[in-house]
Amino acid sequence: MTTKIPQSVRWPIYLVLGLFLLVTAVFVIEFVVSTETEIVAKAEATPVLTADLYVSEVSALLENADPTKGAQLVEGYGCIACHRLGAENNIAPAFMGMAERAVSRRLPLIASAYIYESIVNPMAYIVEDYNPAMPQNYPERLTDSELGDIIAYLLTPDAH
Ligand code: HEC
Repeated sequence: MTTKIPQSVRWPIYLVLGLFLLVTAVFVIEFVVSTETEIVAKAEATPVLTADLYVSEVSALLENADPTKGAQLVEGYGCIACHRLGAENNIAPAFMGMAERAVSRRLPLIASAYIYESIVNPMAYIVEDYNPAMPQNYPERLTDSELGDIIAYLLTPDAH
């Protein structure tokens, strides 16, 4: 014996079913679109690594840069709070030996390009064993000449 659903209750069932399908479709479309946007955003955040990446930007910044000013700026901008040598919390790598380290930290980036990226686009690469705690707003806070001075300082052997 088949139970016959009375005509009068069929349309609410169709309505509920239809609504359910509609909501599911919207979710699926949303998911696909957001995943695609994420992939595109990621690709933009980490440009293809080549030996000349950032080289023209960083060369221009270094043209008249003053490492002595850079030394004052890393204090003024609070970089030292995290990067201080012997900091007990060990929150960030100390600046000592930065220039040497930068040569091979993220090949094929050259040292100055690596330091530039670390400040301007810190999420592109996270140093092993550290948290991504580097502030991301330095590009807005630093002027070009300040950024150049800081990079010049970090490229000297006295950076610490
Ligand atoms: C709140 C803490 C904090 C402050 C402030 C900070 N940094 Fe960092 N920085 C980090 C951390 C943590 C890392 C390592 C993780 C990573 O790669 O993002 C890092 C990484 C770096 C690196 C790469 C170091 C390496 O050994 O490869 C450079 C260069 C750097 N920061 C420069 C700066 C400069 C310049 C300033 C100031 C203008 C600054 N940071 C301010 C936390 C900080």
